[in-house]
Amino acid sequence: MSTNILTGNKSPAILLGAAAAGFVVGLAANFGRKAVVQGMTAAQGEWDEGLKAEHRLTLRLFDAIEKTDASQTWKRGMLLTQLKHALAKHAYEEENVVYPAMRDHGQVEDADQLVHDHGYVKQYLYDLGEMPTADPEWIAKVREFRREIEAHIAQEEDALFPRLRAALGKEGNAHVTAEMNKAGFAAA
Ligand SMILES: [Fe+2]
Ligand SMILES: [Fe+2]
Repeated sequence: MSTNILTGNKSPAILLGAAAAGFVVGLAANFGRKAVVQGMTAAQGEWDEGLKAEHRLTLRLFDAIEKTDASQTWKRGMLLTQLKHALAKHAYEEENVVYPAMRDHGQVEDADQLVHDHGYVKQYLYDLGEMPTADPEWIAKVREFRREIEAHIAQEEDALFPRLRAALGKEGNAHVTAEMNKAGFAAA
């Protein structure tokens, strides 16, 4: 029995083994999606704390992928699916609420740069999905992806989000938190 990376839940999908592989993969992908969504919905607090928690979850998924070897193609595929779900929800919250709030508070170029980065996140996800996971270039691309996403996270957490938090004030922060949670719920 394997343990879900995000929730610590045991996943019964893994028990089904390789029989009816297509069905199992579909089922497991749903478990992965649910696990990601529930894990994230559980995150409480202000908008920037929620986003930081999602950043940590994302990096844990990269850790798990980097611990696999080339023979674990099924596990790599599963983890890539979880990463896609996690990043889709995260991008939806940032692009629909946080970055627009940044633009409204003078951070126009920064918000545009972050959206540009998100485009390349989708590019990495697409390219990884196109390659065989056993290919040595696959894991090399995962590592390159991780470095770029870490730089993006650092920019958000260390500079741009604190600037927005300071610009918003108490009510503004509470409003952005509420809107971000609504967006996150819609993306779930
Ligand atoms: Fe982002
Ligand atoms: Fe982010």
